[in-house]
Amino acid sequence: MITGAIAVMTSGGDSPGMNAAARAVVRTALYEGVRVFGIQNGYKGMLADEIYELEARSVSDLIQRGGTFLGTARCKEFKTEEGRKLGLKNLQSHGIEGLVIIGGDGSLTGGALLSKMGGIPIVGLPGTIDNDVWGTDYTIGCDTAANTALDAINKLRDTASAHRRIIVVEVMGRNSGWLAMMSGIASGAEYIIVPEVKYDLDDICHEIVDDYKKGRRYTIIVVAEGACSGVGLKNVVQEKTGIDTRVSILGHIQRGGSPTMEDRIKASMLGERAALALISGVSNVVFGFDEGKVVSINLFDSVNNKKPLDPELVRLASVLK
Ligand code: ADP
Ligand code: F6P
Repeated sequence: MITGAIAVMTSGGDSPGMNAAARAVVRTALYEGVRVFGIQNGYKGMLADEIYELEARSVSDLIQRGGTFLGTARCKEFKTEEGRKLGLKNLQSHGIEGLVIIGGDGSLTGGALLSKMGGIPIVGLPGTIDNDVWGTDYTIGCDTAANTALDAINKLRDTASAHRRIIVVEVMGRNSGWLAMMSGIASGAEYIIVPEVKYDLDDICHEIVDDYKKGRRYTIIVVAEGACSGVGLKNVVQEKTGIDTRVSILGHIQRGGSPTMEDRIKASMLGERAALALISGVSNVVFGFDEGKVVSINLFDSVNNKKPLDPELVRLASVLK
């Protein structure tokens, strides 16, 4: 049971809804009579002692904002034992008795290693647009990012159709095809190329040429960056089909923007649960969603397993193309 103070941080790639989650952590802890510190700039800030106390007003006017008011970063030093020892020392020097980490699988792995050193209970929240944290159907920011990609693909479809072109759209997803699958299915893309599923480019190109002969006006190929580069794919497709082909790389546009209602609500629910659990003495869990309900997942299980791409989505995409 924590009666003194907890801390909250965001780490790794930012995602829309991180602010809503951190806000919920802060307001819930204060409601429970526990002080809250914000760690600026992820593990980098933890090591640099960028740790400041927050009030209810510190998180005003934030729920609608993308990015993260806490800042985020990547920090090589935290991957070393000395780095983590320094982090723990800094947390303890502020009287912090528990930590909520909002981030992707890398950040949660860092949290699991910090927890193994003892000294501070850890609760994780999955925050990444990639939706690739094991044990949860949902990660904070994935809905906003998928909608951003969808909006872009809708627009690309108009111009592709006007010119009878093929457009390759590269979406984010270093190791995961979730964003490509969701935006691809929702936009009616003809082909969705993801790291988890083998594809044959010769077959795809033959099919496209046949379809154009039958009167098709355009083709959209959505590719996850982790499967292959959009530019490389565009060059091969243009050469093999002889059809005018363009590429659009959506990039970091997908990481920003005002979070959707779903991301705001789910992030708020997760933030509240994280603060309550930590204060009541729970450690080494990640809170996520399973079939619409908040669930707790063992932190070590979460970071030691790779989340598979939902086979139902893969099947659906192949039926509807
Ligand atoms: P994400 O959390 O979005 O997956 P990263 O994989 O870049 O992003 O991880 C963010 C940070 O988490 C890293 O810069 C590092 O400080 C920490 N981290 C990642 N992997 C580890 C690890 N194996 N050990 C310790 N810290 C890690
Ligand atoms: O947040 C995850 C992610 O969006 C990946 O899909 C992508 O490869 C990566 O972050 C890029 O992040 P950065 O440009 O910050 O290194």
